[in-house]
Amino acid sequence: MEKYYIKTFGCQMNVYDSHRVAGILNNLGMCEASSIRQADLIIFNTCHIREKATEKLFSDLGRVLQVKQERAAEGLDTVIGVIGCVVQAEDDQIAKRAEYVDFALGPLTYHRLPEVLAKVARRRGQTIIDTEFPAESKFDFLPENTASGGCAFLAIQEGCNNFCTYCVVPYTRGIETSRPVFEVLEEARKLVGEGVLEINLLGQNVNSYHGEDEQGKERNLAYLLRRLNEIDGLERIRYTTSYPADVNDDLIACHRDLPKLMPYLHLPVQSGSDAILKAMNRRHNAAQYLEIIARLKEANPALGFSSDFIVGFPGETDKDFEATLELVDKVRFIQAFSFKYSRRPGTPAAEMPHQVEEKVKKERLDILQDKLFAWQLKFNRESVGKTMPVLFEGKGRHPGQLTGRTPYMQNLYAEADRGLLNKIIRVKIKDATMNALSGEIAER
Ligand code: SAH
Ligand code: SF4
Ligand code: F3S
Repeated sequence: MEKYYIKTFGCQMNVYDSHRVAGILNNLGMCEASSIRQADLIIFNTCHIREKATEKLFSDLGRVLQVKQERAAEGLDTVIGVIGCVVQAEDDQIAKRAEYVDFALGPLTYHRLPEVLAKVARRRGQTIIDTEFPAESKFDFLPENTASGGCAFLAIQEGCNNFCTYCVVPYTRGIETSRPVFEVLEEARKLVGEGVLEINLLGQNVNSYHGEDEQGKERNLAYLLRRLNEIDGLERIRYTTSYPADVNDDLIACHRDLPKLMPYLHLPVQSGSDAILKAMNRRHNAAQYLEIIARLKEANPALGFSSDFIVGFPGETDKDFEATLELVDKVRFIQAFSFKYSRRPGTPAAEMPHQVEEKVKKERLDILQDKLFAWQLKFNRESVGKTMPVLFEGKGRHPGQLTGRTPYMQNLYAEADRGLLNKIIRVKIKDATMNALSGEIAER
């Protein structure tokens, strides 16, 4: 039986896509290889968001060529494919810099993989590239999503119309599209039937969801959350990533009304400076962001927030940066992702004057992360002594240990029987670091 190996870079949407690609390959009678060296088909699912991510791909591809050559010496053939956001943005570069790549598919065409693999078999030595924004929805052509544990991602929306001036996503994933309500509910019910307890709804701008319901009426994310909340056996619902200006009253009410909706929300703010937010083309200023947070907290006082930040956006002054630090202290994020601005060719910000020096970017990132990490550690420490429901997802680093997640997405380690895997169990928190909690099973 032929074996495949998929390496995934980038965001959760890519993790979901790789899982769906594995489903296609399983359907073709292939199975997963235990290591890259064993694989007859190697696929890289790529990310284009920051310069480093793209460069990493080309260095990894160099190493894959070596694997291919070693296998060839043993008389084994290896097909190499690249899929995902780098393909959409740099298809010509891939064919030029890595001519040994057999095929390259954009994020919206990977459902065509079976045809492409058949073509590869006929036309070796030529890179087959497909970066169309197709008229059909890939979801109509994929085999059913299957569960691989207690947690599952479910893509409900793809693409983005926001065109933040620093970001490649609208160019790599295209304009916003939403999957119909029935399709999402069907996929969710199937996953729950296979033992999934937690579903994380995915989209580049997930709260702009506008899928059609069974009567052809356009529905929003809040409607979808309410329908999902009714599914028996589904215990936890999350959604990511949201755009602040698209958080509406309906969605806020869900955080008050829906017991299955987890008390954790990732709501990227990027900067605390109004001037920078404007230059970023974000449709919110700092005060509006804080207002949304306040209203969400009013709906559910237990809510914890996480966010994304960019430091060193073109024109960012010390004063702008101070405003970001102030916003962090106001919201007290329980988790966060922060990045140095990365100049992406083809985006408006790449051409803006007053690009910030690398040294300054680094200094600002260090200062910001010190602050963010301190709040995260504080939140984790405050969890000590509490008892929380934990969904155990995998084996821990040490024998006899399992790892799981609390409602707040905190990683947790506990001595636990393997029988507790993919179950939600109450755990008493004993200790905390910035990255993880440890605890003891509080129920038999
Ligand atoms: N759709 C989501 C996430 C997009 S990418 C959103 O809008 O929030 C994830 C994060 O990467 C962004 O939130 C942003 O903080 C960061 N990012 C995007 N482009 C970047 C760039 N050019 N340089 C540095 N960070 C970037
Ligand atoms: Fe990129 Fe902005 Fe869209 Fe997020 S909202 S994907 S940062 S353009
Ligand atoms: Fe990267 Fe594409 Fe996701 S650029 S962050 S993999 S949408």
